[in-house]
Amino acid sequence: MGSKRWMLGNGLGHLIRNELKTATRFVDLFSGSASVAHFAATSPEAVPVIACDIQKFAVVLAEAVITRTRVFDPDLIWTSWHERACRYLADVRKFTAASASLPGLRDGFTREFVNQERQRCADDKQPITNAYGGYYFSRSQALWIDALRATLPSNAAHQSVALAALIAAASSCSASPGHTAQPFRPSRGAKEFLYSAWCRDPVTQTKQTMAMLAARHAVKKGAALCQDANNYTTDLEKGDLVFLDPPYSSVHYSRFYHVLETIARGVCGPVDGTGRYPPPTERPRSSYSVASEAASAIECLLKSIAEREAKAILTFPQRACSNGLSGPDVCAISEKYFRVKSTFKRSRFSTLGGTQDENGNGYGRRARLKTHELILTLTPR
Ligand SMILES: C[S@@+](CC[C@H](N)C(=O)[O-])C[C@H]1O[C@@H](n2cnc3c(N)ncnc32)[C@H](O)[C@@H]1O
Repeated sequence: MGSKRWMLGNGLGHLIRNELKTATRFVDLFSGSASVAHFAATSPEAVPVIACDIQKFAVVLAEAVITRTRVFDPDLIWTSWHERACRYLADVRKFTAASASLPGLRDGFTREFVNQERQRCADDKQPITNAYGGYYFSRSQALWIDALRATLPSNAAHQSVALAALIAAASSCSASPGHTAQPFRPSRGAKEFLYSAWCRDPVTQTKQTMAMLAARHAVKKGAALCQDANNYTTDLEKGDLVFLDPPYSSVHYSRFYHVLETIARGVCGPVDGTGRYPPPTERPRSSYSVASEAASAIECLLKSIAEREAKAILTFPQRACSNGLSGPDVCAISEKYFRVKSTFKRSRFSTLGGTQDENGNGYGRRARLKTHELILTLTPR
């Protein structure tokens, strides 16, 4: 996720804005990081944006901008939220900053120290501290994230921006290579990465992201839905411009984003494995990430969009992907139902935390590789 943010400045944004001139709504059916939904909602073409994703955290990120038509002053909201979180930490959690400070990297930040932190967090019952403290987050970071999550503003619009800011801050503090599939270990090679991530300040990052989000708003009020894209198509109408950026990996997105999903949900069942994964019931499953189901899922989706006479823009990597689909496959399916105009853009694809490319070649810790992305403009026949 996130490669579309880059592509928006590299031709995709221009194409979307051009198509928005004749659209009545913009419907992003796989909204992910919400960069495209935010772009469309804040564009002067002024159409309502509907964003849809099966992961709740993605819905929270979209909602923070597309459902609000005014800016608000974040300072007062932040000050009282921060005060509530401080009181919560001091009174309920009996937490003091000194009790969770980190030793120096070469002066006490050892495997034993990390193990002690893990044990202390495991004894805590709060969702983030219990599931991820001592792994993706230091004990102090985890306690703060739990405290901010437990004391969110009550006003719905402010709450949505605050939660989105907390999710974004947690994402940038997480001690993992790009995604939250596995945390860095306190090994000789990775200890430095772990330490550097544990030193980041989720509180300041939340405050800054909240200010940035509060300053953005939709031109027309839209909606964000936690729903399967294929189920939403019955609500489409002639005049809708649908944006499709479906999964290309055979590994479910929920494997890489479970930490953010837990923050969005505010609860977490017992975690498992080196990645500290919550139970399968808390990790959304997608047909698009199952090789035997992906082709029929995309075919049903495209057929249904065409039946509603909606227009669509579809992006997909040109190469053969691990869910069994490639750009040319997706183009061939599209041509059954639409008039298709295709173009290519250079992009960067996410390795989704893996250590090998589609052909089994290793690429170490790099989270993004260069690729070509196919962009199809689909017009109903
Ligand atoms: C390639 S990413 C989208 C990235 C997004 N365009 C961005 O700029 O960040 C695919 C997204 O589709 C979501 N997803 C997977 N299967 C889905 C389904 N059946 N319905 C709706 N969303 C789905 C995933 O949770 C993920 O957020």
